[in-house]
Amino acid sequence: TKDARTISIGFSQSISEEDNWRKSMDNTMKVEASLHPEIDLTIYNANGSTKKQIEDIEKMIEKRVDVLIVAPYGSDSIVPVIEKANKKGIPVIIVDRKVNTSNYTAFLGADNIEVGHIAGKYIVSMSKAHANILEIKATTAISPSVERSLGFKQIIDQYPNIKKTTITALNLESINNEFIKVLDNEPNIDYVFAFNDIIALQAWEVAKRKGREKNIKFIGIDGLNDPNGGIQAVKEGILTATILYPTGGSEAIKLAIKLANKEIVTKNNVLNTILIDSLNADIMSNQFDRIAIQQSNIETQQNVIGEQEKKYLTLYNLIKLLTFL
Ligand code: FRU
Repeated sequence: TKDARTISIGFSQSISEEDNWRKSMDNTMKVEASLHPEIDLTIYNANGSTKKQIEDIEKMIEKRVDVLIVAPYGSDSIVPVIEKANKKGIPVIIVDRKVNTSNYTAFLGADNIEVGHIAGKYIVSMSKAHANILEIKATTAISPSVERSLGFKQIIDQYPNIKKTTITALNLESINNEFIKVLDNEPNIDYVFAFNDIIALQAWEVAKRKGREKNIKFIGIDGLNDPNGGIQAVKEGILTATILYPTGGSEAIKLAIKLANKEIVTKNNVLNTILIDSLNADIMSNQFDRIAIQQSNIETQQNVIGEQEKKYLTLYNLIKLLTFL
């Protein structure tokens, strides 16, 4: 029989599931939640609107969810509603992007400064500290962009023979325009270090149109294991490397359960990251495939158990009815 006590978890996702990284975060949360019958998980999607994200969180405060998980879109406008939830005693877990307040319960995400360091050290070692790099950042309104860039700079700045130019990609269209300009002005670009794999792949497309893609090494971030993801692009030799940036979906649910059970949790929970290049891309994707198969086996088993429970319940009710007759 089912545990009578349910834990309601509300998750505010910032960006639509057309973004595969977001979809993967939502999916891993759902899978983890399905392993705990006492959990009732509701996902709200703000579709890239801070206004909608604030409204979603307001709703969850009103519903008095037991735990609130937020993947913030921006770091600032969201602060008052996060602080409101915290004041009302709802445990709040922030994932991925940071918020400009410390009035939340726990943060969960990979260390983006470390991600920048890994990319920087990789280029230094591959190029023997002689390289011309183009960095493609995302908007400064989000912490991963600022931190990845800062970490990268901390390494690169130590080497006088490494030159770095930086452009900001606000959307895929702007990468096309900006990157074409750079390609036209700079005949020798050795590396492109991009904010994420999507941007790195877009830059590769632009370079390909100009016949320059073979002379440039593209490095992205995220390392999703799907047909359009970074690991596949590394296997195909399109990206030279990607840095794994885990979504933390299942860890967020585990943390939420601890909080609902009034356990003490660490405020800053760091997810591991790793560089994926041609040397380990196969191993990594095999591992991820295996985990995915195990997860789907667990889900199938759970459905079977659910069906059995229903059958027994019907049988049990029938017997009860018969014995009363
Ligand atoms: C997905 C994404 C990822 C990136 C993360 C940073 O929406 O842009 O590509 O690593 O968000 O917040």
